[in-house]
Amino acid sequence: MAKFLVQKSDPLNGEVYISGAKNAVLPLMAAALLAEEKCVIDDVPALRDVEVMKDILASLGSEIKELMPGKLEVYTPVIKDTEARYELVSKMRASFLVMGPLLARNGHGKVHMPGGCTIGARPIDLHLKGFEALGAEVVLKDSYVECIAPEDGLVGASIYLDFPSVGATENIMTAAVLAKGTTYIINAAEEPEIVDLANFLNKMGAKIKGAGTDTIKIEGVPNLHGAQHTVIPDRIETATYMLAAAITHGSLLIKNVVPDHVKPITAKLRECGVQVEFGDDGMYVIADNPDVKLTATDIKTLPYPGFPTDIQSPFMAFLTTVDGASAVIETVFENRFMHVAELNRMGANIKTDGNKAQIQGGKKLEGAKVIATDLRAGAALVLAGLVADGTTEISEIYHIERGYEKFVDKFKAIGADIFRMDE
Ligand code: EPZ
Repeated sequence: MAKFLVQKSDPLNGEVYISGAKNAVLPLMAAALLAEEKCVIDDVPALRDVEVMKDILASLGSEIKELMPGKLEVYTPVIKDTEARYELVSKMRASFLVMGPLLARNGHGKVHMPGGCTIGARPIDLHLKGFEALGAEVVLKDSYVECIAPEDGLVGASIYLDFPSVGATENIMTAAVLAKGTTYIINAAEEPEIVDLANFLNKMGAKIKGAGTDTIKIEGVPNLHGAQHTVIPDRIETATYMLAAAITHGSLLIKNVVPDHVKPITAKLRECGVQVEFGDDGMYVIADNPDVKLTATDIKTLPYPGFPTDIQSPFMAFLTTVDGASAVIETVFENRFMHVAELNRMGANIKTDGNKAQIQGGKKLEGAKVIATDLRAGAALVLAGLVADGTTEISEIYHIERGYEKFVDKFKAIGADIFRMDE
């Protein structure tokens, strides 16, 4: 398996350009199934997860064309198959996002259970609650989820989400756009990726209001036409590079950023003494002022607009390097401290108790052999490796490469000493 070798690096300096958001482009690609005409999506990041979603759409009958790098055309005149098979779905949980469009357009969808992962069980009960509320029959059999719409189609309903689930909000929205009548999603997720999806669907002729708030109204329409849409920048990639500047006491200009999408990280880094400024050409993250001693802070992850769970591990890596005690509380996933053991192997001093982690920062980190346990934990270990003495060898890096476009190239370009070793 390939590995990253990361050496202690100088403070990172220079410019980095943020790619289209992984967690926006995947639901956008699934939603393109709803149109009989061509859809074109711009700023599609070159990621393994995007390749998997392309394969899933193709297996359902879509014609996929890369018109030019990053510009994807999805054309599905007819959905030939409404079953997403195990060998594809097992590669990526987000494959389950095709269920809403399949149910809406063909009245039937059969998708293998997405299963859990290292950060949690990742249940789909809220997705299924929404589909049933719209009138679908849900059958769980042989690890498949099959949803069948009534003869005369889905009917709008009011759906309360017990947790503002991102995926459930997206799947219910795409299922409801062609339903008869009006649907309300109450306690909906408010993430920017939800707004991006609603904007794309509205360009296709849907009638969605309230995306980005806790109540989304969807008035069903008879059908959707093709549309062109540009993916929003990846706020989690943005935050990762903000933390790369902070942990190495560097100074970066980060381009293609939506300031509103990274407000929690901007606020918390400013609390730690990092300078974050927004100019016409992008966001400056400056941590190289020798007169400023960076300090500790506490973070608690919450659904948007709270502090994003996906940045919990990279931020923790940063907190291990600043003097003082910090507390990290993870409220979104039940098992998202897998990176703690790996950071402690590098000399960090982190103690966990349930969903709380106590960090005693300021100790020098030492390079070590560590394992990436999920996409973001992998990024956290790279950040730690940039400031640890000696070499940090990170395995299971496929996690990282599925979600960060040109990860090594971008880090090398700003001065990181990182090397991808094929095995
Ligand atoms: C999306 O996952 C993201 N993935 C995740 O990013 C992100 O961490 C997460 O949202 C939270 O922001 C994509 O968008 C592809 P959820 P999703 O449904 O939709 C519980 C990354 O690193 N829940 O909001 O699966 C669930 O157990 C990935 O890019 C239910 O109980 O997240 C979890 O505790 C990791 N029942 C919480 O909600 C359900 O039916 C949040 O899950 C669904 C979810």
